[in-house]
Amino acid sequence: MSRPLSRLATRVAYASSQLPRVAWYAGHFYVMRRLAEQVRRNDGERPPPRQRSNTPLDRQLEEDRTALFEQDLANVEAGIYPVPADHDGSLLTLLDRSRLFFRDLPDIDQRRKRNATHEVLTTKTRGRRPAYYLQNFHFQSGGWLTDDSADRYDTQVEVLFKGTANAMRRQALPPLAEVFAGRDQRKLRLIDVGCGTGRFLDFVKQAWPRLPTLGLDLSDAYVRHARQHLRRWSRVHFIVANAEAIPAPDASVDAVTSIFMMHELPPPVRRTVIGEAARVLKPGGRLVMIDSLQRGDEPDYDAMLERFPHLYHEPYYASYLREDFAAIAKGCALAHRSDTKAFVSKVMVFDKT
Ligand SMILES: C[S@@+](CC[C@H](N)C(=O)[O-])C[C@H]1O[C@@H](n2cnc3c(N)ncnc32)[C@H](O)[C@@H]1O
Repeated sequence: MSRPLSRLATRVAYASSQLPRVAWYAGHFYVMRRLAEQVRRNDGERPPPRQRSNTPLDRQLEEDRTALFEQDLANVEAGIYPVPADHDGSLLTLLDRSRLFFRDLPDIDQRRKRNATHEVLTTKTRGRRPAYYLQNFHFQSGGWLTDDSADRYDTQVEVLFKGTANAMRRQALPPLAEVFAGRDQRKLRLIDVGCGTGRFLDFVKQAWPRLPTLGLDLSDAYVRHARQHLRRWSRVHFIVANAEAIPAPDASVDAVTSIFMMHELPPPVRRTVIGEAARVLKPGGRLVMIDSLQRGDEPDYDAMLERFPHLYHEPYYASYLREDFAAIAKGCALAHRSDTKAFVSKVMVFDKT
């Protein structure tokens, strides 16, 4: 009797943690779209043809979104990680993040119209970061460089993905569980490269509270935000550093992860970063990357993926769509184990041979 009840309790807990946030962020998405239509009308632009709803593409996206949440729940039920706590903050924090998000939309829109992609490249920043980094990715204010940008980032990403970004990130946990199984977590080491505001590392700690982890990112502001977000955990460290030169000895870590970063890098830098991940991994160690689906992964999504970098400033996304990660990995002694789709993302797994 207790097993079905505890299964029911898990399902209720899962649904009550995920449904409200999907409603919240999807709601933001629809309001944002309405505001964009209003702006176009005010600017005297011809309205775009009314989008049909419930197209085959909409239906497939809906099915794949549902499959993502089903997989997320199945992972919880299999004991791979607990019912997730997304830690989006109190209602006041949520409202404040929402205000920050909406207040920035007109500036993003202006930047898109002017194709202003390099506002953050100034006499102050030039030379302090690689040139490819000093851009207004997604046309966002402050690029990767300001505290406001870090505070807005997770709302922006969750709105774009209508509340599924964290669920996609969590799909990196099952391949980590495979290599951590039966081992003393306190003796393992994990580095998350391009950790951003630390959302993925939070889920790593929820699954393995005593695992020593290092978050690495080139943004002071995002690392500050991540430190604050993960302050309740011990054995979590952060470093502001370039993923092209990971500050760790050869063969010193058991797992390297990288979430939603590869599409932000120029092709030669991707190769350097994957080479660095391979260098710091111990033999048998695992690299898990999550990023967008690529061209051909889901042919019905190809047109949507090709359109994406025209709406958001994503200078390296077109090359990402065609990148051969298995070939890059092979060149640095990483064996390609699997690719698994997770809604509009995929989980790529490689082992150091
Ligand atoms: C799209 S965000 C992804 C952040 C986070 N992993 C997530 O799940 O949302 C890309 C991150 O990569 C970082 N980044 C880009 N190039 C980098 C580099 N060369 N070295 C370290 N971090 C870098 C940016 O600062 C940013 O935080």
